[in-house]
Amino acid sequence: MAIVAVTSPLPGAGLDRLAGTHEVRRHPRGSPLSAAELAGFAAGADALITLLSDRVDASVFAACPGLKVVANVAVGVNNIDLEASRAAGVWVTNTPDVLTEATADFTMALLLAVTRRIVEGDRVVRAGAFTGWRPDYMLGAGLQGRVLGVVGLGRIGRAVARRALAFGMTVHAHDPTPTSDPGLPVTPFASLDDLLPTVDVLTLHTPLLPSTRRLIDARRLALLPRGAYLVNTSRGEVVDEAALVAALESGHLAGAALDVYEREPEVHPGLLDRPDVVLAPHLGSATLETRTAMADLAIDNVLAVLAGRRPPTPVVEPGVRE
Ligand code: GLV
Repeated sequence: MAIVAVTSPLPGAGLDRLAGTHEVRRHPRGSPLSAAELAGFAAGADALITLLSDRVDASVFAACPGLKVVANVAVGVNNIDLEASRAAGVWVTNTPDVLTEATADFTMALLLAVTRRIVEGDRVVRAGAFTGWRPDYMLGAGLQGRVLGVVGLGRIGRAVARRALAFGMTVHAHDPTPTSDPGLPVTPFASLDDLLPTVDVLTLHTPLLPSTRRLIDARRLALLPRGAYLVNTSRGEVVDEAALVAALESGHLAGAALDVYEREPEVHPGLLDRPDVVLAPHLGSATLETRTAMADLAIDNVLAVLAGRRPPTPVVEPGVRE
């Protein structure tokens, strides 16, 4: 029986599909697992189902010579050393598409929360400090007619753009590898530096790659107009968090809404006490339907590879270079 090692409990009943035909090995504690922990746990496994907080590097592939597939329950695969998987001849799969709409919804929720001061207002009411409606009280920024800058016009970036257009925003976008036609009235910017001064709200939808690590640093934050907002539902490492804190402290940025953190799950202490910052615990895709669909897709990928078929959503195909 093929062994499928699963680092954490998954929503839904997808793993039941393996019962009787595969041996399911469950980690007793669950994610996050370091590469050393994963190497020990997955030794002898044919397939590995991982979360984005598990580290899969060359040492894991070396410890698991029979491994055929690493199925990440996430669209991002920055927790996996893809070069090492290629060298080891192991498939890597992810869970695109099924999380696009949920993540775009959550991005809009954060955007609205920070521009309309919803979390700050919630705290005021709970503290018993709401003394009644006043015309000048807790004013935020409207979205109608404002410019949203989308960095990364892939599936999620386009889904966010669609929503922003419905809110009456104008959308400017930068993508280093633009699709020929996003099918949306979006103004493309070949240069990120040219896009930044034009936006009221910047939202990030790029994968974490060497080229996007700290893409939004102090210099680029300074290119945003004074009073702009930043929303990040991509990966925390895309933003230099210390530089973001400095831009908020100086009043250059009006606010930020973050779902992801540079040293996740740690959060820069300079963000924690700020009323102009909304902080979420990496919930972009966190609906029951979406997380169940992600788990099911990861299991589909495992079942396909173990049956000798091409998996539905491969990132790395053994023997094939990008
Ligand atoms: C979540 O962040 C994902 O990559 O799916």
